[in-house]
Amino acid sequence: MEKLSYVGKSLPRKDALIKATGRAAYTDDREFAGMLHAAAVRSPRPRIRILSISDAKAKKVAGYVTLVTYRDIKGVNKWPVVMHDYPFLPEKEARFAGETVALVVARTARAARRAAALVEIKFKELPYIDDPLKALEKGSLKIYGKDNILSSFVIKRGSVDEAFKKAAFTVEGEFSTNYQVHAYLETQGAIALPESDGGMTVHSTTQCPFYVLDAVAAVLGVPYNKVKVLQTVTGGGFGGKEDVPALVASHAALCAARTGRPVKLIYGRKEDFQSMSKRHPGWARVAYGADKNGKITACRVKYVLDGGAYCTLSPIVLWRGTVHAAGPYKIANVDIKTYAAATNKVPAGAFRGFGQPQICFAQESLIDELAQKAGMDPVQFRLKNLLNPGDKTVTGQKLNSSCGLGELVQTLRKRSGWDKKVKSPSVKGDIATGIGFSAAYYGVGLGAKGRYLDRAGALVNVYKDSSVGVNVGNAEMGQGALTVLAQIAAETLNAPYESVKVEEVDSSKVPDSGPTVASRTTLMSGNAIIEAATPIRERVFKTAHDMLVLLGADTSQKMTAAGGVFSMGGRSVAFKQVVAECWGRRLKMSEQGWYAAPRTTFKMEDGQGDAYVIYSYSADAAEVEVDLKTGVTKIKKIWAAYDVGKIVNPRLAAGQAEGGILQGMSWALYENLIYKNGVMVNPNFTDYVIATTKDKPEYDITFIEKPYKEGPYHAKGMGEVPLIGVAPAVANAIKNACGARVNSVPLLPEKVWKKLQGA
Ligand code: MTE
Ligand code: MOS
Repeated sequence: MEKLSYVGKSLPRKDALIKATGRAAYTDDREFAGMLHAAAVRSPRPRIRILSISDAKAKKVAGYVTLVTYRDIKGVNKWPVVMHDYPFLPEKEARFAGETVALVVARTARAARRAAALVEIKFKELPYIDDPLKALEKGSLKIYGKDNILSSFVIKRGSVDEAFKKAAFTVEGEFSTNYQVHAYLETQGAIALPESDGGMTVHSTTQCPFYVLDAVAAVLGVPYNKVKVLQTVTGGGFGGKEDVPALVASHAALCAARTGRPVKLIYGRKEDFQSMSKRHPGWARVAYGADKNGKITACRVKYVLDGGAYCTLSPIVLWRGTVHAAGPYKIANVDIKTYAAATNKVPAGAFRGFGQPQICFAQESLIDELAQKAGMDPVQFRLKNLLNPGDKTVTGQKLNSSCGLGELVQTLRKRSGWDKKVKSPSVKGDIATGIGFSAAYYGVGLGAKGRYLDRAGALVNVYKDSSVGVNVGNAEMGQGALTVLAQIAAETLNAPYESVKVEEVDSSKVPDSGPTVASRTTLMSGNAIIEAATPIRERVFKTAHDMLVLLGADTSQKMTAAGGVFSMGGRSVAFKQVVAECWGRRLKMSEQGWYAAPRTTFKMEDGQGDAYVIYSYSADAAEVEVDLKTGVTKIKKIWAAYDVGKIVNPRLAAGQAEGGILQGMSWALYENLIYKNGVMVNPNFTDYVIATTKDKPEYDITFIEKPYKEGPYHAKGMGEVPLIGVAPAVANAIKNACGARVNSVPLLPEKVWKKLQGA
């Protein structure tokens, strides 16, 4: 591989200083002259017919300005996200407790909240559904379409019934997983500023500035060129700022249009819990069959997600879960059926892993059971069945050479001391220790289902002083995109890393680059930057060569470029000097780039085709201690290995790994959002427990870089990968430690304890 100056180095984060010193300006830190404040009025019950909304009492609050309802919408009252079924503000019926029914505008945030609490909604309560499995029953109450199905997919391959009949070993199990709350530190928020031409500028904390653009233009009924979306420094997303910021921004924009003043709308934590997307609760029945040699021959899956009241991103989340539902194995006979069901609860959406962790928990737990039945070690069993280069996935996609799964599993087996530990789970007093394993693959980007969105733009400007400005359409939300993309730009231009600045997204500077999800930023925006920078690079390199010749360089030697310096035959020039000369020659030092993902194919009828352009891979081993008296599980150590292609920034990649693992174990062990009678009962960080740094286990992280030809400097994507396989590795470790097979996440002490009692 070529020698690189910046890519592959642990360079400092571009945003480290402003974030560590508290200078970063988040949405709520921004103030504008004459700015008003909005607050949401929310439905108190799971399903209501709205009879009237009155602000008679709210009006008495000092600073009250106005009430905003669906009647104020000049555009269309349908949020343009996937199915266009979610009204910006409901007209007759509100479908989940916490849904925004109206907005109040006041002079201060406090007054707005006070007034919102005094707005009276007169309503008639309607019957509701809170269970996705009930929603799918034939005679169920219909709350969505004819069948309560938001989305559904199949994968069919070979002849499953026959394969199960012939199988020497079979296993079947039901598994379920609960919600996960994104728990980003910065709650949802937006500021909308009316422009003199009737347009709107929006400051938004978001992963998807272009979804915000779509929604604000739609709600206001103005053309796109009158709306400008500026992404503010974003305090965490994890998928929770994919779809919903568009709704929040639309609400702020409506209020701004109504009042003609800038309006700020910032969510409190409780309402953020109640109304913002979550990881879908999942339910799955999975069955596997294997022949007498331990080769998996059949897999049957029924997978159901609780989509909540509106469709939003359910089809995309479900599709990813569908494609990966059988696990990273060669299986000739497969029958996968999946459903997202409507319920009268908060619409679930994107969360790191996108429908994969739920089904991965089920199938990787069951793979251990199958291995046991076949009398094989679970790691040996996986090695026998897993996907290698040249193999076909369950959708019939042939894998290329960028597939290091086998090596990952072998590596972890050694590093974790698996062979010895798995055979000798120990009990000391009340504490049982055990080890568990999981393997996963992950399709990078949006794949066939989101194909039309899988493109990205970039704008690269090399200024006269040689500083470099880069605009992209994907967002920094903590994962390190600004840094990684700056490394790619610096590498391509041979510009000093310090001189490159990548900015938060401005929708007026770059074309719609799709959402910042599916770990696609490095690949998509990275390639767009390379495309933009390449013609500039050619001009810079040619000019540098001319300059070196003039300086008397020995031209029999080749020019080299590294670390912002060009050298040839005993002479050298710096990037800065070369750029000055380029400007002197009136060369074009600004370019746009565009990258569209390679073609994918997927037939919806049978789920066959090339689902994703490329896959990343992971393996996890978890060592746990289970208290046999209480059922409390403690994770001692996680070994993880990843093939995410070339690592652009090793320190950031390790950070993504550690954070993803911790978020995965938090979901596996602790996080437990509860609904009772259609209403969320613990929408706060006191009663909803998440892992903190105090709970973090020891980590042992390995990267095995299998280069991807199409990737920027051969990178793939990694942001979500570390979360996916954690829960089943932990569940398998609990089983290994004490014999308790818990089939539902979170793996709460009472569930482990009950199993230990033989329940
Ligand atoms: N890391 C931090 N610190 N904050 C985040 O919000 N989001 C995750 C992951 N890592 C997230 C994060 C999710 S859900 C995705 S899709 C990827 O980052 C997106 O980043 P990428 O496209 O740059 O890989
Ligand atoms: Mo990540 S769930 O794809 O934003």
